[in-house]
Amino acid sequence: MSNLITVKDKQFKPYISSEIILKEVKRLAQEICNDLARQNPLFVVVLNGSFMFAADLLREITIPCEISFVKVASYHGTSSTGSVTELIGLTEEIGGRTVVIVEDIVDTGVTLEKLLGVLEKKNVKQIKIASALLKPDAYKKDIPVNYVGLKIPNDFVVGYGLDYDGQGRNLKDIYVLA
Ligand code: IMP
Repeated sequence: MSNLITVKDKQFKPYISSEIILKEVKRLAQEICNDLARQNPLFVVVLNGSFMFAADLLREITIPCEISFVKVASYHGTSSTGSVTELIGLTEEIGGRTVVIVEDIVDTGVTLEKLLGVLEKKNVKQIKIASALLKPDAYKKDIPVNYVGLKIPNDFVVGYGLDYDGQGRNLKDIYVLA
């Protein structure tokens, strides 16, 4: 029996089980609780991909905290302004606060860099980054990713919030291109 799955026009094979993911997510939550107790961190969950990771991670967070959901939008302005990144949905006052960015995956780090560019203008106290997955071979930025669930090779994956052309986000395990 084949355990390949089809997402749109591509086949994927099982890669990381939900049990393994959850074990790592619990470890991250424990680290965050130890590091950020008494700081009332604001978790900024970057939609869409992070919804499943955020739900698992935040259920394991036992310190006082707040949660906000954002989307990153990039606009190409005029040639003089270049591309402009905007955060949609961040209504909390974040000046002076500890912010934890919750990402599904850090690949090249371009998205993360843009996000940090926006948040750093808002005089936050400190920014920490939590990502379910990191592709170290693709990541060439200097920004430290403080809390990483699993490091994976430079392969395309779906599931656990990650999509292929809009599909596959609902899968509870992670699959890789077959
Ligand atoms: P980055 O800006 O290159 O770090 O890419 C980050 C975004 O690309 C993630 O938030 C995902 O939406 C998407 N992405 C990167 N790698 C994968 C993958 O393997 N599967 C699905 N989406 C991915």
